[in-house]
Amino acid sequence: FHVDWDLMTAEKAGFDHFMLKEVHEQPKAYRDTMRGRISDDGRSVAMPELKMTAEQLKGINRVHIVACGTALHAGLVGKNVIESLVRIPVETDVASEYRYRSPIITPETLVIVVSQSGETADTLAALREAQRCGARVLAITNVVGSSVAREADDVIITLAGPEIAVASTKAYSSQLIAFFLFGAFWAQTLGTKSEAQVAQVLAAMEALPEQVEKILAQAELLKEVAESISHHSSLFFIGRGVDYAVAMEGSLKLKEISYIHSEAYAAGELKHGTLALIEEGTPVIALLSQEDLYEKMLSNIKETKARGADVLGILNEGHEAEISKSVDRYFAIPRTLPLLTPALSVIPLQLISYYASLALGHDVDKPRNLAKSVTVE
Ligand code: G6P
Repeated sequence: FHVDWDLMTAEKAGFDHFMLKEVHEQPKAYRDTMRGRISDDGRSVAMPELKMTAEQLKGINRVHIVACGTALHAGLVGKNVIESLVRIPVETDVASEYRYRSPIITPETLVIVVSQSGETADTLAALREAQRCGARVLAITNVVGSSVAREADDVIITLAGPEIAVASTKAYSSQLIAFFLFGAFWAQTLGTKSEAQVAQVLAAMEALPEQVEKILAQAELLKEVAESISHHSSLFFIGRGVDYAVAMEGSLKLKEISYIHSEAYAAGELKHGTLALIEEGTPVIALLSQEDLYEKMLSNIKETKARGADVLGILNEGHEAEISKSVDRYFAIPRTLPLLTPALSVIPLQLISYYASLALGHDVDKPRNLAKSVTVE
């Protein structure tokens, strides 16, 4: 009697690939990462794992967020989160650059390293350099007991669970949740946001898992877009504000697993040269989740349409009727606070990459030339 399935197949829980399974695990990863950290009445955040005192937190006057790859992109969202909630200047930097460029680190600098594995060599070296200069290091990592977790002064563990696919999905989005929690916690400690404002952020966060489920239920809608993209050799992702940070992650995801060249551009920067690369049929994925930048995005989309771009708009629910005049296709995401949209808008981008890779017949979970964790320089 022989059963023809191996452990790996069983672990995919009915999904064709680990990546797809992990994309679908995001609602759970969000809930697990938030659990126990938001008070029962939804009005405050508790981070009992932090050893730093309120006084220490009050003494910080700048933040450096340092990471590699997808974790770096979570850090770009983290910069927006901290600057907006706490009003402290934040720089986000590539770990392999940071460690060699003599960054200005003082004891009042909080260095936040972000790493799914907690073992990335450049990130670990940046952590050590920051500590050598007297800064306190906070790690956001998915692996308890990893080198980064052991060496950092403070650790926030994302509870995404093991991530097997090389292309990071649920680890990235859980890192976003960690930034939202930490930002709200810091704002609450300093009083930069009122109790009602913090409660508003927390309520919106608690709605995210269900909103992700809603997006996942429409995953099939993105198959056709992905298949049409798979016939192209180059495309653009554009956005403004946090949408730009998400555009960078969408572009990386697509490159990693479909090997299609793409570039992420701050939409307002397109006209300074790159627009020339958009020609008849060039796919453009435009993110329009920021209501105050919506009109600006529409004019950037017009610039690309005038050159023949084939535009997919990713926008908030409620804009469907009017957007159809401006784009070729659209995908709507549920509404949340402007700062939290990355936790939703990244999901369709992950799915587009997945389906494009699938359409091209690539090994989705183990893309060529990439390792899950890079422990050498
Ligand atoms: C590798 C992986 C990426 C990952 C990066 C950082 O390059 O292929 O997917 O984002 O390392 O990994 P970390 O474990 O530090 O988040």
